[in-house]
Amino acid sequence: MRQKLIAGNWKMFGSRQETAKLLRGLVDGMANLEDVELAVFPPFPYLAQTQEALTDTPIAWGAQNLSNAKSGAYTGEVSAAMLLDFDCRYVIVGHSERRQLYGETDTIVAAKFEIARDAGLIPIICVGETLAERNAGQTLAVVERQLGAILALDQGRSLYRAIVAYEPVWAIGTGETATPEQAEAVHQHLRQIVADQDETLAKQLRILYGGSVKRDNVRALVSMPNIDGGLVGGASLEYEHFLEIARLCSSSY
Ligand code: PGA
Repeated sequence: MRQKLIAGNWKMFGSRQETAKLLRGLVDGMANLEDVELAVFPPFPYLAQTQEALTDTPIAWGAQNLSNAKSGAYTGEVSAAMLLDFDCRYVIVGHSERRQLYGETDTIVAAKFEIARDAGLIPIICVGETLAERNAGQTLAVVERQLGAILALDQGRSLYRAIVAYEPVWAIGTGETATPEQAEAVHQHLRQIVADQDETLAKQLRILYGGSVKRDNVRALVSMPNIDGGLVGGASLEYEHFLEIARLCSSSY
Protein backbone atom coordinates (compact mmCIF):
# COMPACT_ATOMS: atom_id res chain seq x y z
CA MET A 1 0.00 0.00 0.00
CA ARG A 2 1.35 3.39 -0.97
CA GLN A 3 0.71 6.01 1.69
CA LYS A 4 -0.88 9.13 0.23
CA LEU A 5 1.10 12.36 0.37
CA ILE A 6 -0.39 15.83 0.36
CA ALA A 7 2.35 18.36 -0.26
CA GLY A 8 1.84 22.12 0.03
CA ASN A 9 4.00 24.22 -2.28
CA TRP A 10 3.88 27.74 -0.84
CA LYS A 11 5.86 29.18 -3.77
CA MET A 12 6.97 32.81 -3.22
CA PHE A 13 4.10 33.77 -0.95
CA GLY A 14 3.83 34.86 2.66
CA SER A 15 5.79 36.83 5.22
CA ARG A 16 7.38 35.77 8.50
CA GLN A 17 4.18 36.68 10.30
CA GLU A 18 1.90 34.94 7.81
CA THR A 19 4.11 31.85 7.85
CA ALA A 20 3.89 31.73 11.65
CA LYS A 21 0.10 31.88 11.44
CA LEU A 22 -0.05 29.19 8.77
CA LEU A 23 2.28 26.87 10.72
CA ARG A 24 0.33 27.38 13.94
CA GLY A 25 -2.93 26.62 12.15
CA LEU A 26 -1.50 23.42 10.70
CA VAL A 27 -0.10 22.19 14.00
CA ASP A 28 -3.28 22.99 15.96
CA GLY A 29 -5.65 21.60 13.35
CA MET A 30 -3.67 18.54 12.38
CA ALA A 31 -5.51 15.29 12.90
CA ASN A 32 -3.25 12.27 12.88
CA LEU A 33 -4.23 10.56 9.66
CA GLU A 34 -2.58 7.19 9.38
CA ASP A 35 -2.94 6.80 5.66
CA VAL A 36 -2.05 10.37 4.65
CA GLU A 37 1.28 12.10 5.08
CA LEU A 38 1.49 15.90 5.02
CA ALA A 39 4.43 18.03 3.94
CA VAL A 40 4.93 21.74 3.36
CA PHE A 41 7.41 23.61 1.16
CA PRO A 42 8.04 27.16 2.40
CA PRO A 43 10.34 29.70 0.73
CA PHE A 44 13.99 29.27 1.84
CA PRO A 45 14.02 32.12 4.40
CA TYR A 46 11.20 30.46 6.36
CA LEU A 47 12.76 27.01 6.61
CA ALA A 48 14.23 27.65 10.07
CA GLN A 49 10.86 28.86 11.32
CA THR A 50 9.18 25.83 9.77
CA GLN A 51 11.68 23.45 11.34
CA GLU A 52 11.07 25.03 14.74
CA ALA A 53 7.28 24.79 14.42
CA LEU A 54 7.05 21.30 12.92
CA THR A 55 9.77 19.33 14.71
CA ASP A 56 8.10 16.48 16.66
CA THR A 57 4.85 16.86 14.73
CA PRO A 58 3.68 14.44 12.00
CA ILE A 59 4.06 17.16 9.33
CA ALA A 60 7.20 16.98 7.19
CA TRP A 61 8.81 19.83 5.28
CA GLY A 62 11.11 20.45 2.40
CA ALA A 63 12.39 23.05 -0.06
CA GLN A 64 11.05 24.17 -3.42
CA ASN A 65 14.41 24.02 -5.20
CA LEU A 66 18.13 23.42 -4.68
CA SER A 67 21.41 24.01 -6.46
CA ASN A 68 22.86 21.51 -8.91
CA ALA A 69 26.28 22.15 -7.36
CA LYS A 70 27.46 20.76 -4.03
CA SER A 71 29.03 23.99 -2.77
CA GLY A 72 31.17 26.81 -4.06
CA ALA A 73 31.06 30.28 -5.57
CA TYR A 74 27.44 30.18 -6.78
CA THR A 75 25.87 33.45 -5.72
CA GLY A 76 22.26 33.10 -4.69
CA GLU A 77 22.18 29.31 -4.71
CA VAL A 78 21.21 26.96 -1.87
CA SER A 79 22.84 23.54 -1.47
CA ALA A 80 21.46 20.16 -0.46
CA ALA A 81 23.64 20.22 2.67
CA MET A 82 22.09 23.54 3.72
CA LEU A 83 18.60 22.05 3.37
CA LEU A 84 19.65 19.12 5.55
CA ASP A 85 20.83 21.62 8.16
CA PHE A 86 17.16 22.54 8.52
CA ASP A 87 16.03 18.88 8.62
CA CYS A 88 14.32 19.02 5.24
CA ARG A 89 13.03 15.61 4.25
CA TYR A 90 11.98 16.49 0.71
CA VAL A 91 12.95 18.83 -2.10
CA ILE A 92 10.96 19.68 -5.23
CA VAL A 93 12.99 19.46 -8.44
CA GLY A 94 12.02 20.46 -11.95
CA HIS A 95 8.81 22.31 -11.09
CA SER A 96 7.41 23.72 -14.33
CA GLU A 97 7.91 27.28 -13.05
CA ARG A 98 11.64 26.48 -12.71
CA ARG A 99 11.72 24.88 -16.15
CA GLN A 100 9.77 27.66 -17.89
CA LEU A 101 10.87 30.82 -16.08
CA TYR A 102 14.44 29.89 -15.12
CA GLY A 103 15.46 27.77 -18.07
CA GLU A 104 15.96 24.51 -16.20
CA THR A 105 16.53 21.80 -18.79
CA ASP A 106 16.08 18.05 -18.32
CA THR A 107 19.86 17.87 -17.80
CA ILE A 108 19.88 20.50 -15.04
CA VAL A 109 16.86 18.89 -13.40
CA ALA A 110 18.56 15.47 -13.48
CA ALA A 111 21.70 16.97 -11.91
CA LYS A 112 19.61 18.53 -9.13
CA PHE A 113 17.82 15.23 -8.60
CA GLU A 114 21.12 13.39 -8.27
CA ILE A 115 22.61 15.94 -5.85
CA ALA A 116 19.47 15.80 -3.70
CA ARG A 117 19.27 12.03 -3.62
CA ASP A 118 22.96 11.54 -2.93
CA ALA A 119 22.70 13.95 -0.01
CA GLY A 120 19.83 11.93 1.50
CA LEU A 121 16.95 14.23 0.59
CA ILE A 122 13.88 12.75 -1.10
CA PRO A 123 13.42 14.52 -4.43
CA ILE A 124 9.92 15.17 -5.78
CA ILE A 125 10.50 15.25 -9.51
CA CYS A 126 7.87 17.23 -11.45
CA VAL A 127 6.87 16.47 -15.01
CA GLY A 128 4.07 17.85 -17.17
CA GLU A 129 3.09 19.14 -20.56
CA THR A 130 2.03 22.62 -21.73
CA LEU A 131 -1.37 23.25 -23.32
CA ALA A 132 0.22 23.46 -26.78
CA GLU A 133 1.91 20.10 -26.22
CA ARG A 134 -1.34 18.53 -25.03
CA ASN A 135 -3.23 19.91 -28.03
CA ALA A 136 -0.55 18.54 -30.32
CA GLY A 137 -1.04 15.09 -28.79
CA GLN A 138 2.43 15.11 -27.22
CA THR A 139 1.52 14.70 -23.54
CA LEU A 140 2.86 11.19 -23.06
CA ALA A 141 5.98 11.85 -25.13
CA VAL A 142 6.82 14.96 -23.06
CA VAL A 143 6.43 13.32 -19.66
CA GLU A 144 8.28 10.27 -20.92
CA ARG A 145 11.22 12.48 -21.97
CA GLN A 146 11.22 14.34 -18.64
CA LEU A 147 11.07 11.17 -16.55
CA GLY A 148 13.52 9.46 -18.91
CA ALA A 149 16.23 11.97 -17.92
CA ILE A 150 15.89 10.70 -14.34
CA LEU A 151 15.56 7.02 -15.22
CA ALA A 152 18.76 7.29 -17.26
CA LEU A 153 20.72 8.17 -14.12
CA ASP A 154 21.13 4.59 -12.98
CA GLN A 155 18.74 2.25 -14.73
CA GLY A 156 15.79 3.61 -12.80
CA ARG A 157 17.10 2.70 -9.37
CA SER A 158 17.34 6.46 -8.83
CA LEU A 159 13.60 6.53 -8.14
CA TYR A 160 13.74 4.21 -5.14
CA ARG A 161 13.90 7.10 -2.71
CA ALA A 162 11.96 9.62 -4.73
CA ILE A 163 8.47 10.79 -5.61
CA VAL A 164 7.09 11.79 -9.01
CA ALA A 165 4.57 14.61 -9.46
CA TYR A 166 2.55 14.94 -12.65
CA GLU A 167 1.65 18.59 -13.07
CA PRO A 168 0.12 19.60 -16.39
CA VAL A 169 1.34 23.16 -16.91
CA TRP A 170 -2.07 24.30 -18.16
CA ALA A 171 -3.66 23.29 -14.84
CA ILE A 172 -1.22 25.10 -12.53
CA GLY A 173 -2.67 28.20 -10.90
CA THR A 174 -5.38 28.41 -13.55
CA GLY A 175 -8.28 26.87 -11.66
CA GLU A 176 -8.49 24.34 -14.45
CA THR A 177 -7.85 20.78 -13.25
CA ALA A 178 -7.15 17.72 -15.31
CA THR A 179 -10.14 15.39 -14.98
CA PRO A 180 -9.43 12.34 -12.83
CA GLU A 181 -9.47 10.26 -16.04
CA GLN A 182 -7.02 12.56 -17.85
CA ALA A 183 -4.65 12.54 -14.88
CA GLU A 184 -5.00 8.79 -14.33
CA ALA A 185 -4.08 8.08 -17.96
CA VAL A 186 -0.78 9.93 -17.54
CA HIS A 187 -0.08 8.44 -14.09
CA GLN A 188 -0.68 4.97 -15.43
CA HIS A 189 1.69 5.63 -18.32
CA LEU A 190 4.40 6.94 -15.99
CA ARG A 191 4.07 3.89 -13.75
CA GLN A 192 4.26 1.63 -16.79
CA ILE A 193 7.50 3.28 -17.97
CA VAL A 194 9.01 2.58 -14.55
CA ALA A 195 7.59 -0.96 -14.51
CA ASP A 196 9.29 -1.68 -17.82
CA GLN A 197 12.57 -1.24 -15.96
CA ASP A 198 11.67 -2.40 -12.46
CA GLU A 199 8.29 -3.78 -11.39
CA THR A 200 8.98 -3.65 -7.68
CA LEU A 201 9.89 0.02 -7.89
CA ALA A 202 6.81 0.80 -10.00
CA LYS A 203 4.53 -0.74 -7.36
CA GLN A 204 5.92 1.32 -4.52
CA LEU A 205 6.56 4.61 -6.35
CA ARG A 206 4.29 7.43 -5.24
CA ILE A 207 3.01 9.58 -8.11
CA LEU A 208 1.29 12.82 -7.06
CA TYR A 209 -1.02 14.96 -9.15
CA GLY A 210 -0.62 18.75 -9.13
CA GLY A 211 -2.55 21.55 -10.80
CA SER A 212 -5.45 23.36 -9.10
CA VAL A 213 -6.04 20.65 -6.51
CA LYS A 214 -8.75 21.79 -4.07
CA ARG A 215 -11.27 20.31 -1.68
CA ASP A 216 -13.92 19.85 -4.39
CA ASN A 217 -11.73 17.77 -6.69
CA VAL A 218 -9.15 16.00 -4.51
CA ARG A 219 -11.28 13.02 -3.57
CA ALA A 220 -12.09 12.05 -7.16
CA LEU A 221 -8.43 12.46 -8.12
CA VAL A 222 -6.96 10.32 -5.34
CA SER A 223 -9.60 7.64 -5.81
CA MET A 224 -7.86 6.78 -9.09
CA PRO A 225 -5.64 3.72 -8.71
CA ASN A 226 -2.40 5.43 -9.80
CA ILE A 227 -2.82 8.80 -8.06
CA ASP A 228 -1.09 8.76 -4.68
CA GLY A 229 -1.74 12.28 -3.46
CA GLY A 230 -1.39 15.89 -4.49
CA LEU A 231 1.10 18.69 -4.89
CA VAL A 232 -1.02 21.66 -3.88
CA GLY A 233 -0.14 25.29 -4.60
CA GLY A 234 -2.77 27.98 -4.05
CA ALA A 235 -5.00 25.90 -1.78
CA SER A 236 -2.11 25.14 0.59
CA LEU A 237 -1.83 28.77 1.67
CA GLU A 238 -4.90 28.51 3.90
CA TYR A 239 -4.45 25.95 6.61
CA GLU A 240 -8.13 24.98 6.91
CA HIS A 241 -8.32 24.34 3.22
CA PHE A 242 -5.07 22.36 3.16
CA LEU A 243 -6.04 20.23 6.18
CA GLU A 244 -9.44 19.58 4.65
CA ILE A 245 -7.75 18.35 1.46
CA ALA A 246 -5.64 15.95 3.54
CA ARG A 247 -8.68 14.66 5.45
CA LEU A 248 -10.56 14.10 2.20
CA CYS A 249 -7.74 11.78 1.09
CA SER A 250 -8.01 9.60 4.16
CA SER A 251 -10.13 6.48 4.15
CA SER A 252 -10.98 7.10 7.80
CA TYR A 253 -12.70 10.40 7.09
P1 PGA B 1 -1.74 25.18 -7.94
O1 PGA B 1 -0.15 24.88 -8.01
O2 PGA B 1 -2.33 24.19 -6.97
O3 PGA B 1 -1.84 26.60 -7.45
O4 PGA B 1 -2.28 25.00 -9.31
C1 PGA B 1 0.35 23.58 -8.04
C2 PGA B 1 1.85 23.59 -8.17
O5 PGA B 1 2.38 24.44 -8.90
O6 PGA B 1 2.55 22.78 -7.55
